[in-house]
Amino acid sequence: MDIIILPTAANVALAAADRIAALIARKPAAVLGVATGSSPQGIYAELARRVAAGDISFREASAFALDEYVDLPIDHPESYAAVVAREVIGPLGFDPDRVHVPDGRAEILDAATRAYDESIQDAGGVDLQILGIGLNGHLGFNEPTSSFASRTHVTKLTESSRQANTRFFPAIEDVPTHSVTQGIGTILEARELLLVAQGRNKAAPIAAALEGPLSSFIPATALQLHGNTTVILDEEAASGLRLIDHYRAAAKPARH
Ligand code: GLP
Repeated sequence: MDIIILPTAANVALAAADRIAALIARKPAAVLGVATGSSPQGIYAELARRVAAGDISFREASAFALDEYVDLPIDHPESYAAVVAREVIGPLGFDPDRVHVPDGRAEILDAATRAYDESIQDAGGVDLQILGIGLNGHLGFNEPTSSFASRTHVTKLTESSRQANTRFFPAIEDVPTHSVTQGIGTILEARELLLVAQGRNKAAPIAAALEGPLSSFIPATALQLHGNTTVILDEEAASGLRLIDHYRAAAKPARH
């Protein structure tokens, strides 16, 4: 795992945007995995700035979202379909037909989840998956005890996740109880994973995910099973890491 610790959240956004820009430069029709939540917002804002400046284009690229609430109306401003439209499709100039969000309103959810996994495979798989981490160590909405082999599926949200997301809703009762999420197994098939975390409240889940033993109770420990993962942290999110000095000093030799 490549662990990069930077002073501020702004530095994290810039460094992550650089990696995505490098991918698009070498593969304009890349398939991007996009996360919602606060963590990637700075990345999208920085990429939008570069798009507006004419430095980069997502016109040929595709995107697959990680997750979606179940039974939130599609025009609800906090449905992930709406969030992805607002924060990703519009500002980054994606072709809306090439951006996909799991269907949390399907009549037969299991069929829709299977179809979502297949559509990722049909698109050639995800080149780079952007990830945030939940306070309980979730990835997407893979809550504690999610199987590392799981495919896109319906999940019941923990109280911790519902509480964390009340900031996007008027009250806790308005936060959906279930979601559709790419499974850990689905996420691990992306060719490259890019996890970003900022702020002191992510220090504990980051330490558990990167340095703790593999455990489905901390779903993000599954990142340890992937051979091409970059984790970009600000100082606060890195502050719980036992080997923090080692990661700081671990720059590769210039001739690697
Ligand atoms: C959310 C999303 C995840 C996200 C995580 C962290 O609820 N379902 O995809 O990565 O929880 O959220 P945030 O970045 O807002 O801290």
